[in-house]
Amino acid sequence: MPHRIAILDGDGIGPEVVGEALKVLDRLEELEGFTTERTAYDLGGRRYRRTGEVLADETMDELRTFDAILLGAVGTPQVPPGVIERGLLLKLRFGFDQFVNQRPVKLYPGVTSPIAGLTPDRCDIVVIRENTEGVYAGAGGLLYAGTAAEVATQESVNTRHGVERVLRYGFELARTRARRLTMVHKTNVLTYAGDLWMRTFDELGDGEYPDVERDYAHIDAACLYFVTQPERFDVVVTDNLFGDIITDVGAGIQGGMGLAASANIDPTRSAPSMFEPVHGSAPDIVGTGKADPVATVMSLGQLLAFLGEGPAAARVESAIASLLDRRQGRTPDGVEYSTADVGDELVDLVAQG
Ligand code: NAI
Ligand code: MG
Repeated sequence: MPHRIAILDGDGIGPEVVGEALKVLDRLEELEGFTTERTAYDLGGRRYRRTGEVLADETMDELRTFDAILLGAVGTPQVPPGVIERGLLLKLRFGFDQFVNQRPVKLYPGVTSPIAGLTPDRCDIVVIRENTEGVYAGAGGLLYAGTAAEVATQESVNTRHGVERVLRYGFELARTRARRLTMVHKTNVLTYAGDLWMRTFDELGDGEYPDVERDYAHIDAACLYFVTQPERFDVVVTDNLFGDIITDVGAGIQGGMGLAASANIDPTRSAPSMFEPVHGSAPDIVGTGKADPVATVMSLGQLLAFLGEGPAAARVESAIASLLDRRQGRTPDGVEYSTADVGDELVDLVAQG
């Protein structure tokens, strides 16, 4: 049975980086003998400007039938902020209950981190960001809008169900790695949510995961430690907003947005999971050949691992490691080494893995 994959290449550099990832996927299918059936969806800012539609419920229903979604990037400067983020990205993440957002923060040999002297052995973290609750749930409102008395509230939603399931995912993942799980929050100030997170963390840890070492850091301190002592972290689990912020710090230390991958996962597999680079549609470099497709190919690797194609995922991982080691900090510059060159090199390298 072919894996059915929905391709949402989106806006800006989205189609450029997804195009390279699909070249790599073609080669992996030949090498490993699995097949995919891909259906392209035209969604995002361009589509919205043309039709006024972001994501129809019927399209959601169709997407629900796929095994996985590969997303490039969405959004264009001409569309007001929030329209595509809430109407497409969050609608997919929430609608398909993709409650885990998994983002590796790994420094590969050959990549120069902006942190002076940082070596790969000191930076191999996986951040698990809660992906369906917190302030992103959209609770709140504007009162007396536009008057001198206007009030804006934005509530953070934290349910026992939501907190427990994401913490459990973190514990399970830690068991497959160095068995150390750091919870990141702000329990000293956000005392209601913090109390729920901490109690659940301790109960699960004591009751079910006594073999996993537990660690805690406040979000502000964790941002500092990511920069000063990333070796402190193995698996990090945190709420939606803190996870959004700290994974950008992570993308920075691992060598930039072109190298940061992300998986939006429904571990129950009742709806498709969605794999995407962390970066956006980069309108400033669209069409120049400067977009680095590595993050998207890394996300493709996550997708293949999730669909049970372990050997193909392993080929992607080792191809990326060799590519980055070989290019020694060189990134696509549009002249001698472009988006397509990186894709071609990866197509060759997966065959050697
Ligand atoms: P961005 O991530 O698109 O770009 C930030 C900077 O990083 C730019 O200088 C860009 O050239 C560079 N960059 C990004 N990806 C790169 C790559 N693969 N290779 C080389 N350089 C890369 O973020 P920005 O500029 O804030 O947002 C642009 C648009 O993308 C907006 O419409 C925004 O809403 C949307 N966006 C979409 C996301 C998504 O689809 N998940 C995530 C973030 C932003
Ligand atoms: Mg972000």
